[in-house]
Amino acid sequence: MRIVNYPHPTLRRTSKSLRRVDDDLRSMVRRMFELMYDAKGIGLAANQVDLPYRMFVINPSGDAARPEEEQVFINPVLSKPKGSEEAEEGCLSLPGLYAPVRRPETITLQAYSLSGEPVDATLSGLLARVVQHETDHLNGVLFVDRVSPTTQLDISPTLEEFETQFASQRQRGEIPSDAEILARLAALEAERT
Ligand code: CO
Repeated sequence: MRIVNYPHPTLRRTSKSLRRVDDDLRSMVRRMFELMYDAKGIGLAANQVDLPYRMFVINPSGDAARPEEEQVFINPVLSKPKGSEEAEEGCLSLPGLYAPVRRPETITLQAYSLSGEPVDATLSGLLARVVQHETDHLNGVLFVDRVSPTTQLDISPTLEEFETQFASQRQRGEIPSDAEILARLAALEAERT
């Protein structure tokens, strides 16, 4: 398992709801937390590690030594957006790129935990932002899609660099073809969604 970067096609795919939680899924979650901490992130969605499931992990502290702040959200649904707030965001699939994004200030989250317990929470501040950013991932949306037109112009050279890098990695055979990627995701979906 590794984190995939923009413009990997899995990042643009709508993830599928999970039907069950089993030991395999729990080890995937563990590995996602490890990759997230290694990359100094505070959230990571399943499609960022090339998995097609509606699931993400967060630890707002970003600190592996504070596992009590770890949370896993399965099949998240957001509702009741209120207010509007702009703050800088980054993404482990676009390393080094940061830009201001305007989002609702508070949001209600319904999901399941890794132990299958229903979650129903009204979130604000950093937690609301991270949860919205990660839920976007599951719908194939990246934070760079949500920046202002001016910011879009500013960041477009950086996005082009990511695209060039991806193309050369693919040329070197380090990334499978779109068809191979989609076939693998379809097999994983058939198993668990
Ligand atoms: Co992200």
